[in-house]
Amino acid sequence: MPDTFYITTPIYYPSDYLHIGHSYCTVAADALARFKKLTGHDVFFLTGLDEHGQKIAEKAAQHGKDPQSHVDAIAARTTELWRMMDVDYDDFIRTTEPRHERAVQKIYERLLATGDLYKSEYEGLYCTPCEAFWTPTQAKDGLCPDCGRPVHPEKEESYFLRLSKYQDWLIEYIGAHPDFIQPRARANEMLSFLRGGLNDLCVSRTSFSWGIKLPFDPKHIAYVWIDALSNYITALGYASDDDRLYRKYWPANVHLVGKEIVRFHAVYWPIMLKMLDIPIPRQIFGHGWLIIDGRKMSKSLGNIIDPAELCARYGSDAVRHFLMREVPFGADGNYTHAALLTRMNADLSNDLGNLVSRATAMIAQYFGGILPAPDIKTELEDALEASLLALPGEVETAMDSLQFSSALASIWRVIGECNKYIDQTTPWLLAKDPSKRGRLATVLYYLAEAARFAAILISPFMPRTPKRIYDQLGITEPDLMDWASLKSLSDRTAGHTVTKGEALFPRIDIKKELAELAAPAAKAEPEPVPAEPLRQDTQPATITIDDFAKIKLVAAKTLAAERVPKSDKLLKLTLDDGAGERTVLSGIAQWYAPEDVVGKTVALLANLAPRKMRGVVSEGMILAASDDKGGLKLVTLDGDMPAGSEIG
Ligand code: MSP
Repeated sequence: MPDTFYITTPIYYPSDYLHIGHSYCTVAADALARFKKLTGHDVFFLTGLDEHGQKIAEKAAQHGKDPQSHVDAIAARTTELWRMMDVDYDDFIRTTEPRHERAVQKIYERLLATGDLYKSEYEGLYCTPCEAFWTPTQAKDGLCPDCGRPVHPEKEESYFLRLSKYQDWLIEYIGAHPDFIQPRARANEMLSFLRGGLNDLCVSRTSFSWGIKLPFDPKHIAYVWIDALSNYITALGYASDDDRLYRKYWPANVHLVGKEIVRFHAVYWPIMLKMLDIPIPRQIFGHGWLIIDGRKMSKSLGNIIDPAELCARYGSDAVRHFLMREVPFGADGNYTHAALLTRMNADLSNDLGNLVSRATAMIAQYFGGILPAPDIKTELEDALEASLLALPGEVETAMDSLQFSSALASIWRVIGECNKYIDQTTPWLLAKDPSKRGRLATVLYYLAEAARFAAILISPFMPRTPKRIYDQLGITEPDLMDWASLKSLSDRTAGHTVTKGEALFPRIDIKKELAELAAPAAKAEPEPVPAEPLRQDTQPATITIDDFAKIKLVAAKTLAAERVPKSDKLLKLTLDDGAGERTVLSGIAQWYAPEDVVGKTVALLANLAPRKMRGVVSEGMILAASDDKGGLKLVTLDGDMPAGSEIG
């Protein structure tokens, strides 16, 4: 029997259409679910919507709708978005479904029976117009923080959960299970929150009605967080006539949640489960936020990024790759269109696209499209084979710790090795010498196999691209597309009919694209966003080799140079980076005349996000050393390195 793996996303509030921040977590869950399926697990992947509560009721009223038709409309758009983004969930739960409502009522009954749910009075500072209770710290100077009107002390009859009773148990559990809350920093936050003392939690409301009625006291409705958290078990049939899924998949392997809702999942939820005598989930992973120019996305700031629009423009695989590759899961990351486009050009058009197009084109040209069997091997093939065979293990380790960006970095490191291997083995020269036919066969076989490995390994992240690669490689056999086939290079691919298809990801003219996105018709962003490095929670004093692997340095040939009008510092350079021409602005005009740099092979930071300066988009940076006396010298390459050669 395969191991089961149960993964969930938060259930999103359908107050508005979902944005790219919601897609971020859902795509991560989908990638992990697909990876676990690929590696032989029996996976259950749950997502859905959290449809009750005052906020939703108010939002519906603002749109002149009843709450149910408001959430129905958003639910339809949400499932459509997930279809578009290839999110392959096993169930989509909505908390207004009768199956969920019935089970939540049973959960409240069971909690009441344990004695951990009790009726008491809620005391607080009440704002009558807002129908809201506030604490003295919230209601500064006795005024409601929402409407500014005076609040007064009031008592309301409510149900409470006896959280305090389980505080010590949870502190001990978190201490003994370091993987329970990840990343580690979030566990420490939870421990200090718990050590500050837990108050019993008020878990019923009487001030509005858009929620689940408590069966034993119907003027009370369930607190929206208890209603929502329960979805993780009600979707599996807990407390229903058919609880087979619950018995099979619970406890969840991982709940993916944003960092601001870790507390609900890592404190309230486990205590609630403990009260019900249900095992607690194995892991809560708190990821960071996608932010826009340092600010959270919000309607009022007008900086919402619509994932559907991006997918329609660039294809869902490109968007999914970007979301998973750009930001280490756990840290916050800045979203910019420029970063997305740069990543697409660098990783997808150049690295992956080049590998597949060069391999298939040469097999077509030199072997009439029939993949030859390998013949004469050298240490270059040994090295490439070793990298390929080590890769599945590396990817699995990264995925098991939810380090999606490291998994992709490893895959792309080997794709980079393959492109380097082409430059080292120079198949176009081997093809000129009939005595080297055996070598040529070996090189092309290794490239085709590397492309097959890449297709399998990227499949959890980019579900559509592998088929396009298999089609070009002529692979139709399912067992040449599965995880087990990565144990060795195959002796069955030789003889396949290979065809050079269309470019997987045509290169994008970033300058033009940013201008189009900035045009009022493309309602994505008011202004082209200047490049900005990813923000991480902490800036390490030293970096790891993985950090360094993020930097793409290549040799670039300076084809042309000119001064930038009205600037005494900038030269505008036209560089050949091996894949094409690009424009780079460089602040070297005081040290170099344009004619001095033309012809030089310089070191180019190729994956720096584009930045607009003096009306020109600069697509990278060239390296120079400066001394403390104001001198500056360009970093240039010795000898005759071809443009595009990797530096590192
Ligand atoms: N309904 C609750 C969750 C209940 S789970 C039992 C909720 N909903 S939410 O719609 O406000 O947020 C859902 C998730 O989306 C959170 O995990 C939140 O962190 C995530 N995100 C919302 N905006 C985000 C970004 N800009 N970036 C990344 N994730 C973000 O909370």
